This record gives sequence, structure tokens and C-alpha cells, in this order.
Amino acid sequence: MKRTYSEKKISRELIERLKNEPKRFILFLMNQSDKTIIYVLEKLGGLKNGFNKEPLLMLLSHTNENVRMLAIKNLAKLEDINLLPTFYEFAISDDSSIVRREAVSAIGRFRNEKMIPFLVNLLKDRDPKVVLQAIRGLLVFSYKLDVKNELIKLLNHPNELIQEIINKELIGEKQKSKIQQQVEAPDFLKNIVVYGDVQEVLRYVPNESVHLTFTSPPYYNARDYSIYQSYDEYLEFLESVFKEVHRVTKEGRFFVLNTSPIIIPRLSRQHSSKRYPIPYDIHPFLIKMGWEFIDDIVWVKPEASVKNRNAGFYQHRKPLAYKPNAVTEMLMVYRKKTDKLIDWNIKQYSWEIVKKSRVLGDYETTNVWYIEPTFDKVHTAVFPLELCNRVIKFYSFVGDLVFDPFAGSGTLGRAAINLERHFFLVEKEEKFIDRIREELGKVSRLFDQDEPTRFLEINEFIKLSQGEI
Ligand SMILES: C[S@@+](CC[C@H](N)C(=O)[O-])C[C@H]1O[C@@H](n2cnc3c(N)ncnc32)[C@H](O)[C@@H]1O
Repeated sequence: MKRTYSEKKISRELIERLKNEPKRFILFLMNQSDKTIIYVLEKLGGLKNGFNKEPLLMLLSHTNENVRMLAIKNLAKLEDINLLPTFYEFAISDDSSIVRREAVSAIGRFRNEKMIPFLVNLLKDRDPKVVLQAIRGLLVFSYKLDVKNELIKLLNHPNELIQEIINKELIGEKQKSKIQQQVEAPDFLKNIVVYGDVQEVLRYVPNESVHLTFTSPPYYNARDYSIYQSYDEYLEFLESVFKEVHRVTKEGRFFVLNTSPIIIPRLSRQHSSKRYPIPYDIHPFLIKMGWEFIDDIVWVKPEASVKNRNAGFYQHRKPLAYKPNAVTEMLMVYRKKTDKLIDWNIKQYSWEIVKKSRVLGDYETTNVWYIEPTFDKVHTAVFPLELCNRVIKFYSFVGDLVFDPFAGSGTLGRAAINLERHFFLVEKEEKFIDRIREELGKVSRLFDQDEPTRFLEINEFIKLSQGEI
């Protein structure tokens, strides 16, 4: 029996009955005005599991775009992945843009990876609103590199709203979290001294954790604490460590390397001694691995700390045999390569931190630093505290994490505590670890009272890095 209803006559009970009786629902829909059908579709409410979708599928071929749109809207409530091809067909081919948008929104509702290729195709649609719907659906999967890459391409989309949403959701967010990461260092690295080989230790350090590295690596075989089979092997070792230092350094931050040419004394009077130009041999591979050369500072000591090389020449005064006594060491200053200006790094810090980190009073304005060397009863080549103080003050902010992969007696750690920075030290000789314990024990700490120094064996460090202790 043909019966038409005005929408005002349609009760909630009738709608519930229709929902449960598909055949009756179909008959009902065949006889109603567009207005009534739209009313019913708007009031359909939740659709239980087991709801028969035939009546709604029938409406997809209705001539009224609002009916088709609402049919899709209701079908989407079923979250039935088998409907994905149907929705896609409407999304690409319906004449009405409100139907197409609703179909894209229905696809987005699935939150299922199967929909990704469909939505990616829809990013090419001419209607910016269809594209925006597709973006919305894809943002859920923006952690996937391929999805992210597709979305990033839209930065050049002619529509300003699309550009804006991509900027905000992908670029802006990235920058925000990146800035956060720039200032903060992982807590587990703060104020620790690790007893182990730095090559192994660095494997467990996350990318971009460190603000500043200042170190003086072993001097090839010039002193008694390290033996390499060849100079090449020594350089390869340093290359592998500094590559890792590069990885763990934050964008645009500094690496200050203290080295100098060394001399391996001659075996006997029949042989000559050999000079190794360490800083010059290291420099090319640092540039290649992504460090930008910034400065060379010459550390001048009032007198040579190695044996006098002048005695022979002083006597005979014959050319070519001149051998100056070296009273300098190099501080090579590098910055992790970036297209960002130094200002970008500075702006990441709060006004209070910048103010607190200002280098006040007199300071050395040239690249020649006169600093007395320090002699230590245990370690033969320690940094003077003043050298660490200057490097830390010039190249880091209060609260930063400073790193020394070849810590020796741990002078950098002492300076860091005094200057309210955190430190991360690695040293592979036990006797020097004991020395660090002694040295750091002497420093009174007002800063970081909640984060006292921890001495860790390599296994403990690995567990700590994995959150196990
Ligand atoms: C020139 S000293 C550093 C001195 C230090 N700047 C100071 O103020 O005491 C180099 C240090 O690197 C350490 N070392 C050498 N190879 C290492 C490695 N593979 N891992 C960790 N430390 C290492 C040596 O034991 C030595 O103490």
C-alpha cells in the first residue's frame, strides 16, 4: 500500500521500526518525497551491528544530492570496510561535490591502513574541500614516511587553506617539538661518568642529545696511555668516534677539538724523530662527515711541555736543522652543519637562560689564548680548568649537556658543575675513573643537587639507556 508521510508525522518509533525491517524501509523510501527521506536520514541515529544496509545502498542512486550525501553519511556509521570501494567510487565520480566530500569523509572514518592509497589518490582532486577531507583522514597515518611525504608535497598546493593545514600539522609541529628537543637533553645522560670504550658507549646515545663536545683525544702513541698499530689505524679510530659525536650533537651546536702535532722521538742517533700533524689530518674527515669549520684557536703555554728540541741547532746553527719548541696546541672549533643561523639556536632558550649564560667582564678577544698548563699527579695530559671554563662559557648555555668522550681526569666535568651545565664523561682507564671520582668529589655543587654524579660501568650504562634501571 502506497502511503506518503509528511516529515512532521514521522515518529521516533516509526524510524526505529524501519531500521529493523529492511523490506519495509525500502518500500517506505520508494514512496516518500525527497524532504521526508532527508528528514528520516537525518534522524536515523546510531546503527547497530547487523543493520541491513540495502535501503541505504538503494538511495545511493537517488537523484537528489542531499539524499545521496546522507545515505553515505549513515553508511559510514557502519564502519564496514567492504564499503570502501563504494565510497571511493562516489568520491571520484559523483557529480555533486557535497556527495564526493561526504564519501571522502566516510573513507577517513575507517582509520584503517587499507584506505591510505584511496585517500592519497584523492589528494589530486580539483575540489580543495575534497582534498582537505582526504588530508584529515591521512593525518592519522602521518607517522608513516610515505604518507608524510605525500602530504608534504601539498605545501605547494595552490589553495591557501591546504598549505596552512599542512604547515601547521606537519612542519609547525615538527619545529615545535624540534625546538623543545634542542634545549633538552636526555635525563639519563646528565652528570654521568661511564667507564668504558667510547666507541661502545656512543652506540647507546640517542641522536641529537648533546649541546657541546670539548675533548682532547689520545695523542697517537706519544704518551703511554694508548697504543695503536699505525697512524692510519689511529685516524680511523678518531674518525669513527667523531662521526658518532656528530650524530649525537644537536643541530647547529659545537664541537671543540684540542689536538696538536706530535712528535715520536727517534729510536737512536741514526734515525730521525717523526712529526704527525694530527689536527690537519683530522680536519678533512670532519668536514666530510658534516662539521662546519668555524675557528682555530691557538692555546699558548708559557713554555714547552715537551723535551727541548733546540739543543743541537743552538750549538751548530746550520740551516735546515732548525726545530722550534712547540708551545702551542690547537683548539679547532666546528659547528654541526645546518642552514640555520646561530640566532636560531640562541632563540630556543628562554630570556632568563640567555641572561644567565652571558659572558660578562673581560674576555679574550683574539684567537690566541695564553693559559698555563696544568700538571696532574695521575694523568699526563689534563686540560687546565681555565681552558674548559672558556670553551663552556663561549659555546654553551646554562643547563646544557657538555660531553667529553676522552675524559681523562674529568676536568670538563668540574668546569661544567661550576658553570651550571650538565656533563657526560667517558673514560676507558680505571685509574683515571678513580681520579675523576676524586676530582668531582671536591667540587661543591649548588646547581644540580637533585642530579648527583653517577659512575657507571658500561653494562649499567646500557641498561640505563634502555630504561631498565
Ligand atoms: C688526552 S687525554 C684527555 C685528558 C682530559 N682532557 C683531562 O682533562 O684530563 C685522553 C684520554 O682518552 C682516554 N681514551 C683513549 N681511548 C679511549 C677510548 N677508546 N674510550 C674512552 N677513553 C679513551 C685515555 O685513557 C685518556 O685518558
